[in-house]
Amino acid sequence: MTPLPSTAPGSTLAPRRLVDSFGRVHNNLRISVTDRCNLRCVYCMPEQVEFMPRERLLSFEEIARFVAIVAPMGVDKIRLTGGEPLLRKDLDVLVRMLVAIEGIADVGLTTNAMLLAPMAARLRDAGLERINISLDTLDPGRFERLARRPGLDATIDGVLAAKRAGFDPIKLNAVIIRGFNEDDVVPLARFAREHGLGMRFIEYMPLDAGHSWERAKVVPADEILDAVAAAIGPLAPAPDQDPRAPALDYDYLDGGGRVGLISSVSRPFCMSCNRLRLTSDGKVRNCLFALDEADVRSLLRSGAADEAVAQVVAASVAGKWEGHEINTARFVQPDRPMHSIGG
Ligand code: 5AD
Ligand code: SF4
Repeated sequence: MTPLPSTAPGSTLAPRRLVDSFGRVHNNLRISVTDRCNLRCVYCMPEQVEFMPRERLLSFEEIARFVAIVAPMGVDKIRLTGGEPLLRKDLDVLVRMLVAIEGIADVGLTTNAMLLAPMAARLRDAGLERINISLDTLDPGRFERLARRPGLDATIDGVLAAKRAGFDPIKLNAVIIRGFNEDDVVPLARFAREHGLGMRFIEYMPLDAGHSWERAKVVPADEILDAVAAAIGPLAPAPDQDPRAPALDYDYLDGGGRVGLISSVSRPFCMSCNRLRLTSDGKVRNCLFALDEADVRSLLRSGAADEAVAQVVAASVAGKWEGHEINTARFVQPDRPMHSIGG
C-alpha cells in the first residue's frame, strides 16, 4: 500500500491522514482525562505524588474540539484513560460528546473500576461500549501492596456492575511482575473465564515512577500462556486476530473464552502501531515512550484555528520514531510516569 500524501496538494484545509515516515496509519487516539488516581500502583505511580493543578487539565469542550479536528484526519477509535478517568466528574458527559462526533466509531474506557459501580449504567447509556478493567491480583493483601491502598472489593463490584450494564467486550488487564503476582495468572484467567470476560496479560514495562523496573521482573508472554494452558486447558491463536492490535489473542479450544497477551517487551509491536496520545494537560505524544511531546493546549486556549492544531498533530505523527528501544542499551525511560501519560 502506498501511503497517501499527508497533505493534499493545493489545499491547506484538506483532510490529511496521520501517516508517519514508516507508513503507519494512526486511527487510534488514547485520551488521558486526568493524572489523578485513587490508587498508587507501584508500576505506575510514585507513593508521594503532586498532581497537576486543575486549570492545566483540558476541559471536556477542549477535548471534544481536539477530537473533532483529528476525526477528519482518520482517527475513528478513542480510549479514555487516566490516571483514573472516573475521577473526572460526569465522565458520561464527555462520552456523549465524543460519540456524537462524525467519524468516531468506537469509544472505550480503561479504568481501575473502583468507582465504576455507580457510574456503569450512565456510561453505557452515553454510548460507551468497551471497558478494560485493570485487575492484577485476586488476593486482597497483595492488591493493597501493589496499589498501596485497599480496593479489591470495590474493584470486583465494579466488574460485576459493568457486566450488569451490558458492556461488551469487558476485558481484565493484568500487569504481571516476577516475584510479585505470577501466582495470580491462573486464578485471574479462571475468574475471567467464569464471568465471560476477556483476560489480558501485560508485560511489565519501564514506565514506573520509581524507576525500579528490571528486565528480570518481566514475565514473558509465552510463559504466561503456557501457565494458563497447563492449568486450565489448551489454547489456539484466535482466527479473527486484528494485526494492528497490540494483544496476541488466544482462544480456549473448548470455547470457554479468550486470553490476550501484550508482549511489549519480549515481542515489541511498534511496527504496527496505530496509536496517538493526548495527555490530560493537552500534550500530543506519538509514543508511550516518547521523550518529547507537542503542546496543543496553548493552541486550544489562544484562539488558534483548527488547522494550526491539525498541523501540530500531523507533525508529531510525521516525526514518530520507529519504536521503543527497551531491548537496547540506548533505551531512555521517559520522565513522565504512566499515570501522567495515560496507559
Ligand atoms: N507496565 C505495563 N502496564 C502498565 N500499566 C500501567 N503501568 C504499567 C507498566 N509499568 C497498565 C495498567 C492499566 C493500563 C492503564 O496501563 O495496568 O491496565
Ligand atoms: Fe491508578 Fe491505573 Fe496507575 Fe494503578 S495503574 S495507579 S489504577 S492509573
